[in-house]
Amino acid sequence: MSIIKPKTTPIYQTSVFTFEDLNELELYFEEPGQHYMYTRHGNPNSDELAEEINKLEGGAGAIVTSSGMSAILAGILAYCQAGDHLLCAEEIYGGSSALILQELSRLGISVSFVPNEELYALDAYVKPETKMLLAETMSNPLLQVMDIEQLAQETKRVHIKLLVDNTFATPAVVKPLELGADIVIHSVTKYLSGHSDVTAGVVIGKEEAAYLRAKQIVMVYGLNLSPFESWLAARGLKTLHLRMRQHSSNALTIARFLQQHPKVSQVWYPGLPEHPQHQVASKQGRGLFGGMLSFRISDTLEDVNHFMQSLEHIPFAPSLAGVSTSISSPLRTSHRSLTPEKQQRLGITLGVIRLSVGIEEPETLIADLKQALDKI
Ligand SMILES: Cc1ncc(COP(=O)(O)O)c(C=O)c1O
Repeated sequence: MSIIKPKTTPIYQTSVFTFEDLNELELYFEEPGQHYMYTRHGNPNSDELAEEINKLEGGAGAIVTSSGMSAILAGILAYCQAGDHLLCAEEIYGGSSALILQELSRLGISVSFVPNEELYALDAYVKPETKMLLAETMSNPLLQVMDIEQLAQETKRVHIKLLVDNTFATPAVVKPLELGADIVIHSVTKYLSGHSDVTAGVVIGKEEAAYLRAKQIVMVYGLNLSPFESWLAARGLKTLHLRMRQHSSNALTIARFLQQHPKVSQVWYPGLPEHPQHQVASKQGRGLFGGMLSFRISDTLEDVNHFMQSLEHIPFAPSLAGVSTSISSPLRTSHRSLTPEKQQRLGITLGVIRLSVGIEEPETLIADLKQALDKI
């Protein structure tokens, strides 16, 4: 009989695992991590994905979740409870602010939003009950880059935890735990899986205690990721470094092209020397600046629609980080739930187009952008 030794992990598409008898069941409790019982509590595919991401981020442990949103929820609840106060960077993914403002506030966790440029001096915002600061390595959609080392120094000084959403950067670009963050989360939906076919998240703890709290929350709230999605994401993750190199190099080429196009009034890409945080991005960015950029065209609905309709190869898809390029409208999608005043203050107007640069040949992308811009 031949021994079956698959090179890749098979999909354990099962909700439960069987036991020979009560003695075998006891082993599950006595030897954590060696046996499986129930997929909501743990599954080989989810664990494989979590371990690989944990290695990349350099954590003490990681747990994968059903989405980036559930990862943010688990990351916050790992350290916050009713009565606690949370600080949150003002320029952040709209879904994150909706979660905190609309849902966590109902559970008694209050929030103060801090303008990104004030995040390095928190005295004016910290209260005795403040437990944590949530910020993104690179903000969505205007790519403000946070100096994670400096943020970590400040959060330590005021005795609060630092939770970093590293979705836009990925550990191929920045490793926040090495720079002092306490918890990192990702929307694995984006670069970590990378093919626009998975919805998933992950929480990585610098300390084992944070990871174990997040794991408990994922288990009891039922925020776990399915075996098949875990398997797909683990498959995508294998090419992360390769993809990030091409995403980054394409994005820099396109940012330079957009900068000189007469129909484009502003370009936000951390790899451009003109970007306000270019130095920070160079210092912590491992030579890469990621695949996301935003640019501003005319603010009229007619021009924006005409531009989108004219693109032949680049679809309008309100997500990001897939291998093929797409555009999005932050005002009408990810940042729709912000008040008009906040949208205005952040500079997110109708003409801001977010470009998720894929790994295609850059010439094809530039040709498509050029012909569509020339039409408006
Ligand atoms: C920076 C960031 N964090 C978190 C999320 C939420 O992730 P998901 O859609 O996987 O729940 C998103 C989604 O776009 C995001 O852009």
